[in-house]
Amino acid sequence: MLHSIPKNNPNKHPTKSSHRAKQKELIMIHFFTCTIFIFWMLLLSACTNYQPSSADRMQVGVAYYNQSDTFLSQMIECLKDQFDNLANEGLEITVMVREAAGSQRTQDDQVKELIDAGCNVLCVNLVDRADPSEIIDLAREHNIPIIFFNREPVAEDMMQWDKLYYVGADANQSGVMQGELAAGAIQTCRQIDRNQDGKIQYVVLEGEAGHQDSIIRTESAVNTLKQKGVSLEKLSCGIANWNRAQAQNRMMQMISQHQNRIELVLANNDDMALGAMDAYKKLNVTESALPVFFGIDGTDVGLKAVAEGRLSATVYNDKEGQSAAIAKLAAALITGQGLNKIEFENQKYIYLPYKKVTGSNVYVFYKEKEL
Ligand code: BGC
Ligand code: CA
Repeated sequence: MLHSIPKNNPNKHPTKSSHRAKQKELIMIHFFTCTIFIFWMLLLSACTNYQPSSADRMQVGVAYYNQSDTFLSQMIECLKDQFDNLANEGLEITVMVREAAGSQRTQDDQVKELIDAGCNVLCVNLVDRADPSEIIDLAREHNIPIIFFNREPVAEDMMQWDKLYYVGADANQSGVMQGELAAGAIQTCRQIDRNQDGKIQYVVLEGEAGHQDSIIRTESAVNTLKQKGVSLEKLSCGIANWNRAQAQNRMMQMISQHQNRIELVLANNDDMALGAMDAYKKLNVTESALPVFFGIDGTDVGLKAVAEGRLSATVYNDKEGQSAAIAKLAAALITGQGLNKIEFENQKYIYLPYKKVTGSNVYVFYKEKEL
């Protein structure tokens, strides 16, 4: 206390002027007490309420290759949710999203625009995974870190600068899981070998040529089936660029070529598996003459098809986990906090595991997604 009131006042009969002086003194005491109280309150609130500094203000620029891609458009929603979560935890965040309609040129311009708008971290889903140089140069010039996702740049490009990161999943793992799921189904359900020749006649629907997931998923699914002792006969293979309508067209051609000989359809993603099913539906093929279909992704439509038993199984491409990892990394890069707690592979890669989805566990994924 700065001031204290004497306990015993020696002047028992105070005069008017001494009374006024006393009043003045009381007012002063009151004033100082209030000032000190307010000062302490301000100090306390400054200590307890963390105010983000300007460096903690995240301006996130998200650029992705094409909004017509089912998996990607769902993943972008997850990413926005994850940044919202960070905002609820007290970080100041603005997110700007741009989609490039399949043109790398457009994406390069969009990234420039995002940088000009003040973004201090970039999340980039390249159109052409082999052509990130312009984006990397732009970002490096402005010292803005890039987190690439889903479409993995080649290793040499990732080495161009130390502020380049990648978040995704291991393509080989998804292929192995798809192969294991197909082998399990074939070995438990003998009718899948419809002509009972001891071999499974199969076709493959592949994603974009040059995408890290296309080639590897196909190879590892087929190799796994063989390793599990399934005899295979490859009838055909078609590229359908991850796209449902293109897959339907490719499948129509394959059916007209091989009629009812096809017993297994391996698709690099759910949308193409669904496109293949659309082809059979369009041709009114009876259920007993249908092949079995396997996808990858666990998109909403894919999960629904598994739950309804139309898609034998899929492999969950963990877009929620990947989005959470991107948001966490972005926040760490901006605030400089927590970067040492993130586990990287080769200092710049984060891979989230895939999960198998069949009719017996599909509801777990439904529940998680509150479908
Ligand atoms: C997904 C596909 C998607 C592609 C886009 C893959 O990982 O499985 O569904 O079309 O990424 O890059
Ligand atoms: Ca057969």
